[in-house]
Amino acid sequence: MDRTISLLCPACQGALATRNSDWNCPSCGRSFGSDSGIPLLFFPNEWDASKGDVTDAIKCFYEETPFPNYEETDSVWRLKEKAEKGVFARLLDEQIPADATVLEAGCGTAQLSNFLGIRTARTVFGTDICLNSLKLGQDFRLRNNLDNVRLIQMNLFRPIFPPASFDAVICNGVLHHTSDPFLGFRTLAGLVKPGGVIVIGLYNTWGRLTTDFRRWIFRLTGSRFQKLDPRIRKDPTNALRKRTWFLDQYKNPHESKHTIGEVQGWFEKTGIDFLSGIPKAVAFESFSGEEKLFEAHARGSRLDHALVQLGMIFSGGREGGFFVMIGRRRVA
Ligand SMILES: C[S@@+](CC[C@H](N)C(=O)[O-])C[C@H]1O[C@@H](n2cnc3c(N)ncnc32)[C@H](O)[C@@H]1O
Repeated sequence: MDRTISLLCPACQGALATRNSDWNCPSCGRSFGSDSGIPLLFFPNEWDASKGDVTDAIKCFYEETPFPNYEETDSVWRLKEKAEKGVFARLLDEQIPADATVLEAGCGTAQLSNFLGIRTARTVFGTDICLNSLKLGQDFRLRNNLDNVRLIQMNLFRPIFPPASFDAVICNGVLHHTSDPFLGFRTLAGLVKPGGVIVIGLYNTWGRLTTDFRRWIFRLTGSRFQKLDPRIRKDPTNALRKRTWFLDQYKNPHESKHTIGEVQGWFEKTGIDFLSGIPKAVAFESFSGEEKLFEAHARGSRLDHALVQLGMIFSGGREGGFFVMIGRRRVA
């Protein structure tokens, strides 16, 4: 485990000292505990009340329905098998250097963090606000001796890492469940080393329309016809997986939606160069299983973006209208 990243106080950014699994901040005098070996370094946002803050509502939701669920049979071998099927996780694992320092912010049950940590030279931090999710990840991590993975309770708006600490920062399916996705993005971008990469997965404004339509039907029919959802239709037998997906997609207390052009704008504002996207940002270019995620690809025109996002509607919003944008932090 890489000990070179020292943890900071989420309240005042002073260096934290640890003793008997407690964390103390000599600068501000605060102390933080831990649970099941997970440091409890969550600190709330201190925003102007008029801005609104969904953090508590989202935290309660995921404490009750940790996402994604593990299955009893989950093992390192099963996790690898799942990743092979999903392509994205496999490509990340193949292309993030084997000795990189990685942060997954909003890791949920840490399936991706644990998977990336199967390569033992890598140092992986998985952080989330939801303790029950982290505990599931921690249980898996300990059972499988993934000593180079470390799980920590942290609010991504109140980071506990020094700026420019990571070769890769991943935040998949998280920022759209916060009150200020751009602020979240900017905060995470500051944790990437110059030359390092950031990977952001979000709901797409257009691609999500099919999910919005299904949500409307479920609302009208008291959640009948769940097989209208392609994932549930494909896998109707696993009740826990079906329920977790249904709640996450259709009963979430808060979600926002974003476009390819908007996120490219976020990149520009924060000194990140666009590298690639899933789906690709250029119309009619298909994404292959051998895609080079961290090589520069065309950013696409407005027309390209419109066609790509339209295509997401016509593919039936299979992955919940989800898109991924990848960029590299500029070296000053
Ligand atoms: C849909 S789940 C995604 C989990 C995981 N990234 C994945 O792709 O399977 C969203 C996660 O974001 C976390 N989250 C929401 N707001 C957060 C915040 N402010 N800081 C850290 N995590 C947050 C939730 O607790 C939840 O686990």
